[in-house]
Order: sequence, then C-alpha cells, then structure tokens
Amino acid sequence: MRILMLASEAVPLAKTGGLADVAGALPVELARLGHEVQLALPRYAGIEPQAADLRQTATMAVPFRGGSVRVGIETGTLENKAVSLICIRYDPFFGRGGLYGEEGRDYPDNLERFVLFCRAVLEACRRRDQPPDVLHAHDWQTALAVVYLKTLYRTDPAWAKTRALFTIHNVGYQGHFPVTSYEITGLPRSEYTPAKMEFYGKVNLLKGGLVHADLLNTVSPTYAREIQTSEFGYGLEGVLQGRKDRLFGVINGIDTKVWDPATDPHLPAHYSPEDLSGKKACKQALQREMKLPSRDVPLIGLISRLAFQKGIDLIVDILPKLLELDVQMVVLGSGEPQYHADLTDLRARYSDKLAVHLGFHDPLAHRIEAGADLMLMPSRYEPCGLTQLYSLRYGTVPVVRRTGGLADTVVPYLPASSSQETATGFTFVLPGPEVFLSTVLLALQVYRDKEEWLRLVRRGMQQDFSWQRSAKQYVELYERTLALKTESLHHSPYSFHRPWFGGRWTA
Ligand code: ADP
Ligand code: GLC
Repeated sequence: MRILMLASEAVPLAKTGGLADVAGALPVELARLGHEVQLALPRYAGIEPQAADLRQTATMAVPFRGGSVRVGIETGTLENKAVSLICIRYDPFFGRGGLYGEEGRDYPDNLERFVLFCRAVLEACRRRDQPPDVLHAHDWQTALAVVYLKTLYRTDPAWAKTRALFTIHNVGYQGHFPVTSYEITGLPRSEYTPAKMEFYGKVNLLKGGLVHADLLNTVSPTYAREIQTSEFGYGLEGVLQGRKDRLFGVINGIDTKVWDPATDPHLPAHYSPEDLSGKKACKQALQREMKLPSRDVPLIGLISRLAFQKGIDLIVDILPKLLELDVQMVVLGSGEPQYHADLTDLRARYSDKLAVHLGFHDPLAHRIEAGADLMLMPSRYEPCGLTQLYSLRYGTVPVVRRTGGLADTVVPYLPASSSQETATGFTFVLPGPEVFLSTVLLALQVYRDKEEWLRLVRRGMQQDFSWQRSAKQYVELYERTLALKTESLHHSPYSFHRPWFGGRWTA
C-alpha cells in the first residue's frame, strides 16, 4: 500500500511529546512490512537537514486565503531510505523557535500555519499516476488534510481513490479557533455546521477530522471507550459515540532500538533482565548528575509535560509528605508556568532529596528512565502514554493512574492476591492525592522486599511493546478503509457495524 502520513512532529526531527515518537516509528515499521510510506512534516527551524538528508527539490504555489503562497518542498529520507520524507518550508510560519508556541503560549497564527501545511501537502503529493491509497493524519494539526481530501479535493481525480484514517492522540487538544477566522480554512460555509466543524460557536479542527475520516482510531482500547463519555470526551463524546462503529483502539508501540537499556548511547552503563548491575551504575550516575547525595534509597522519577492532564497537581500535593521519607526524586518536565513555580519552590525546600530539571532534555529522559527505581504517572487521562512503556523496558516500576493506555499496559500489583505473579506496576483509580500517596507507599513497601522487587522489575522488562503488532493493526485499518464501499462512505457514515475496539486489541 502507499501511505501518506501527516504529522506535526516526528522523531528524530521535531518532538514535544509522544506523538513524535509514534510518527517517527510507525512509518519505519510499515515500511518494514513492505508498504511505501511518505511522511509529511512542516519544516521547522529546529529540524537538522542532515538528520534526514533533506534538500529543497521544488517550490510551489499553494492556494491560501483567496490568493496563493509560494512554499519550498524539501525531500529526504529516514531510517536508511526506508521512509521518504516531505517537508513544507515556509519560514514566516515554521521558521520559529517552537513547534506550536513559545513560553507556554500558543502562536496566534496556528490556524494559518496548519491550514497552509495541510493544503501544501495535498498539493505537493497530488499524483494521478500513483496516488496514495491511504492518507493517515494525526491530531488537530493535520485534521484539515482529511477535511480537504473529502471536500475541496473530493472530485479531483488525483485523490479520488485515497481513503483517510484519522488518529486521535489526545482529545483534550482540539484546535479551537474563533468563527471570524473560519475563512482562513478556505472551506465552504457548508462545513461550518454543528454536524461538522462548528463547536459551541468556534471552529474545531479535530472535529473536522472526526467527522470526515473513513475510519478513526485512538491510541489505546480503553481510551477509545473513555472518549465516548462526557468525563473524557471534552465535548466531542457525542460525535465519537455517533461514529463508534468506525472507532478503534490501537496501542502504541515503542522504538526498541532507541529505547534499549542494553545499548542506549545516553547511558553511562548498560544492562539487561539477566544482568541488572548496569542499572545500579546508572542510578549512581544519575544521583551525581542531578547533585543528589549518593545513597542507596528508592529513587523516584517523573518525566512529563507539566500539564493538568498529567496530574502534576497531585505530584505537587503529595511531595512534601513523600519527601519526609528516606527517598529521592528526580523531575524532568516543562509546561505550565504554575507547575514550574511549584516545583521550583519544592526543590528549594527539599534540595537534598528533590532534583528538578525544567525544560526538554531527551538524553536526560533516557538517563532517568534507567537510573530511577519507580516512575510516577498519575495522569487524569492518558490516551496511551509512552513514558510507562519505556519505564517497563528499563526496569523502572511504574506507579500510574488506571486510565486509558496506562490501564491497558500496566498490570497492577495487588497485595495478597495471585496478581503478584503477573504484575508489572502499581495502579490507582480515583484521581486524589490520598490514594495516589498510598499507592506510592505500597510500591515503596514492596521495594524493601528485594526479591519480590526484582521479580517485578524483570517481568516489566520482558513485556513486548515493540511496534510490530501495532503496525500490523494499522495495516488492517488501512485495508478496512479500502474495503469500505464508496456509497457507504458518502451516504451512510455510520453503517459499518463492527464494534472492534475493546478487549480485542488490548496489548
Ligand atoms: P505525551 O505525549 O502526552 O506528552 P507520552 O508518555 O506519550 O506523553 O510521551 C511523552 C514523551 O515525551 C516520552 O518520550 C518522554 O520521554 C518525552 N518527554 C516528556 N517530557 C520530556 C522532557 N521534559 N524532556 C525530554 N523528554 C520528555
Ligand atoms: C498524546 C497522549 C499520549 C500518547 C501520545 C502518543 O500526546 O497524551 O498518551 O502516548 O499522544 O500517542
């Protein structure tokens, strides 16, 4: 199959979160399965051309705001030419310090930026001879590509056969813009209705993708169910319920080459489930790097966007009590200014126990995954979560809230039950500080039983979250989009009765 994948970030070129890990690794795995994949990204200033052999191969005029804009088309390849890359270069929009904003504030022209990106990709990849079979878009930033495919380009012979899969990585980020900016999308008025892109008086890009895609998926079966409820749907639960027969859950994989404690170039020592001695060396090196006393105490990690979604307020809440104990904690994160301030205060109060690095630092993320004993993820919601998957692979036991992908990937340790034979971490349900703290305390108690802890660590390290299985599920979804009858696509979008999400695709 020919797959055109659009994303707003992808490793190794641009990253703010897990989307980049997915958009970087999935195309490579699809190529390995024999498919032809082209990945489209905006050409951000921070992208290093040599990382993908990028060079400008053309310029082209792209329809934009009633006129046109000339953009550069840069092409390159990833992973030994397995995946071809196309970047849209327009420096006034993408030649900036951030991907979506700076200093915690979104760029005010994000609508213009992603309208231009989506439109330019459709213009640049228009091939009558070999059109893509499937256009696969991710999140609100690229949702418009799906909308354009099904509206402006619907009668274009170059795109007539291309089907669309839309992946929701986070329904909490929808791309809302004021109605007064609707004309920037270049779409007809008929798209701005409550059944389509209108959302409480605003333009909602994510909703456009949800309504128009042939099939939808999100990044775990549990989250696929959760977003159909008002607690998790962020107002789109009705739309998602309406399309539930076309909504699937595919758990993310991880790049087991980039995240491998046996070879990771960011680590001072290496280890495997058979020989964990290197993990100890990683812990000691992390204590030195983060200027914590070199002591044999439980080292707790947190690597996170500092956002409400991630339950950072719960962390801030329990830290004073937790740090009364003989433990250490290392925090790596960036995000909302209030959490930066809270964590800076706490560090000043507990400087011999708490180390905080505010900012984005990928090598340090690897070293914390390796050096910590426990990893905290008390997320309010978590579509999939990759941090806990890396933790499992690095023998760092996750303590997570039982939601979304966390519920699908961490098997809870329940005291006095046979679950201990399958457990890989600790989980709690209610998003409150008391339960969270008592779950961390339970983990610390088990930590003291060295043999039990070692079993837990090894079991986690032996879990298989490689991309292979998930990439095959994506291929099945692509095949399903191709099998859909044209009439059903156009006239009866809800007639595909296969309630697939749920148990079937759990990891
Ligand atoms: P989300 O995409 O919601 O932020 P995920 O758990 O799916 O959550 O992915 C987070 C990814 O971003 C992981 O690869 C994690 O290592 C990385 N990450 C998060 N914060 C930082 C940071 N401050 N520095 C480096 N890497 C980070
Ligand atoms: C989003 C979600 C996260 C998920 C990632 C990749 O950022 O918040 O849970 O792992 O996308 O799918």
